[in-house]
Amino acid sequence: MARFFNTNAFRLAALYFALFAGSVLALFAFFYLSTAGFIETQIEQTVGAEIRGLQEQYEQLGEAGLVALVRERSLNERVDNMIYVMTDPFLHQIAGNLSTWPRRITPVKPGWITFPFEVHTRTDTEIHTALGTQLIVGGDRLLVARDLRDATVFRQHVLSTIAWAALISLGLGIIGGLLMTRQMLRRVETVANTTRHIIHGDLAQRIPLTGSGDEFDQLGGNLNAMLDQIERLMVGMRQVTDNIAHDLRTPLSRLRSRLEVTLLEKPNSARYAEVLRETIAEADQLLGTFNALLSIAEAEAGSRRDTNTTADLAEIARNVAELYEPVADDKGLTLTVGVPDSLHVRGDRHLLSQAIANLLDNALKYTPSGTVSLSVARDGDAARIEVADTGPGIPPDRREVVFDRFVRLEGSRSTPGNGLGLSLVRAVATLHGGSVRLEDNEPGLKAIFTLPAASAVATEALRASDARPAA
Ligand SMILES: Nc1ncnc2c1ncn2[C@@H]1O[C@H](COP(=O)(O)OP(=O)(O)OP(=O)(O)O)[C@@H](O)[C@H]1O
Ligand SMILES: [Mg+2]
Repeated sequence: MARFFNTNAFRLAALYFALFAGSVLALFAFFYLSTAGFIETQIEQTVGAEIRGLQEQYEQLGEAGLVALVRERSLNERVDNMIYVMTDPFLHQIAGNLSTWPRRITPVKPGWITFPFEVHTRTDTEIHTALGTQLIVGGDRLLVARDLRDATVFRQHVLSTIAWAALISLGLGIIGGLLMTRQMLRRVETVANTTRHIIHGDLAQRIPLTGSGDEFDQLGGNLNAMLDQIERLMVGMRQVTDNIAHDLRTPLSRLRSRLEVTLLEKPNSARYAEVLRETIAEADQLLGTFNALLSIAEAEAGSRRDTNTTADLAEIARNVAELYEPVADDKGLTLTVGVPDSLHVRGDRHLLSQAIANLLDNALKYTPSGTVSLSVARDGDAARIEVADTGPGIPPDRREVVFDRFVRLEGSRSTPGNGLGLSLVRAVATLHGGSVRLEDNEPGLKAIFTLPAASAVATEALRASDARPAA
């Protein structure tokens, strides 16, 4: 409970309740003030009209006429309705329906007074209060008043109604506030619970969403997306370390045992030199695997921010082709290059260059004779890189698995390689929001690498702004 009162939600609810209570009370106060005086005002109007009428009568008929009129009215009016008292200057009663001039008169506002008077009922005598005003005519005094009991009853009625209404609204306000706070706290509690589980190692936990799409759902959704991303990165990382450990252990132990065996042999410097050369070659191969795995991990873990720079795909392709020309020459392959002057995209120059190099490397490596072609072109708004060869190709049912790490097809075991080249190509494509797929080149293999529309289009705009002279 103490925790509850300490929460922000409670403080917020309390603040809202205070505001609510304030406005309810202000509203009712206004209502009371504007209605409660209503009957008094009516009485004042009635009494005022009566006394004005009597004054006019006095002016027309004189004192005797007025006395007669007051007498007549006194007889007609019951005491609890309209009260008349007319006296001489010494307060001796001349006419009226009240037995004496009232002893206790309280002025309430200019011209208006209240006074207590007795009302005789059949069984009892009650004291009522009257509201009235007086008139001096000649030397005589005339008092006209009216019983305030109706006004008092009405005022009390209004007051009790308002009190009940206020009590009920405030009660509902408190209950509503508590319910709202509880509801909010429960949502926060679920988030806290989930995070607690995750902190204790259960990374698969996710924040349950209500599906309402409200702020809590949005927060939960974002946290879940963040957890997914973290989990993906962790799984990727674990995979990389597992793969590295698995793939490097065998060659490392082979390397170690070869050195050990050599040491056991009779010392022979020519033999030593040969073994060292072999060892260096094997270490190079190990380093190659290591670097390839790290590149894939880097590309897979990379953020889009890394790909937010401009790169000229045409220039990259030309550079890679230049690098591989000697390899093609050595194997007696024809390497054709079809690349425009420039084709700017948003992307990481280094990774894109490595992806093209891996595709070209495969084409040259697995094609015994014929032609290898590299082309870069704009395809609608997207950029498209194609590497085609006239080699053995890959059967349709293996064209997806070769993208997995360490996958090499049977016929390729004799050629050096780790089975990591295409994995990196796919990681780079995914990182750039693009794709890579393999098709039949009839004969041979065609690798198609596309970068999405956004990267090409946005880059045109970027290039246009780049071209503007600096201010
Ligand atoms: N152009 C191609 N023609 C025929 N087979 C291919 C071609 N490209 C790839 N492959 C097959 O797909 C497998 C996987 O290729 P990938 O580039 O991933 O690895 P690798 O070339 O064997 O080794 P690495 O690229 O790591 O040196 C290759 O071993 C090969 O069997
Ligand atoms: Mg390869």
